[in-house]
Amino acid sequence: MGDHSVAADARGISREHQVQIRLMQALAQAVAQGDDIAPLLAELSEYSRAHFLSEELLMRLYDYPDYDTHVHDHERMVEWIEALEARKEDCAAMAHAVQELSAIFMRHIASCDSNLHGFMSRLPS
Ligand SMILES: [Fe+2]
Ligand SMILES: [Fe+2]
Repeated sequence: MGDHSVAADARGISREHQVQIRLMQALAQAVAQGDDIAPLLAELSEYSRAHFLSEELLMRLYDYPDYDTHVHDHERMVEWIEALEARKEDCAAMAHAVQELSAIFMRHIASCDSNLHGFMSRLPS
C-alpha cells in the first residue's frame, strides 16, 4: 500500500471536505446570481457520493464502531441532493434549499465526520 497510513487517510478526508465546502459555496453563489446550477449540482452530487464511499471504506477498514449511524446520515444527504436535483427548475425554492443542504453538510462534517476523525487520530499509525 506504499505510504498508506491512518494519518494520510485522515488528511485525505479533510481535503475532500474542503472541496465539498467550496462546491457548496459555489452553488450558493450561483443561486444568488441566478446562474444555471445544474452543472454544479451534478458535480457536488458526484463528488459527494465518491467521498461518502471512501469514508465508508475507511470505516470498514478501521472497524469503526459507529459505521451504521454514519452511513445512515450519508444516505440522508444523498436523498437531499437528489431532491434538490429534482427541483432544480424551481428557482424560488432553490436559495432556501441550497442553504439548508449546506447546513446539513456542515452539521455532518462537524459531528459524524469529526467523530470519525477523532477515532482515526487515536489509532496507532
Ligand atoms: Fe461522513
Ligand atoms: Fe465527510
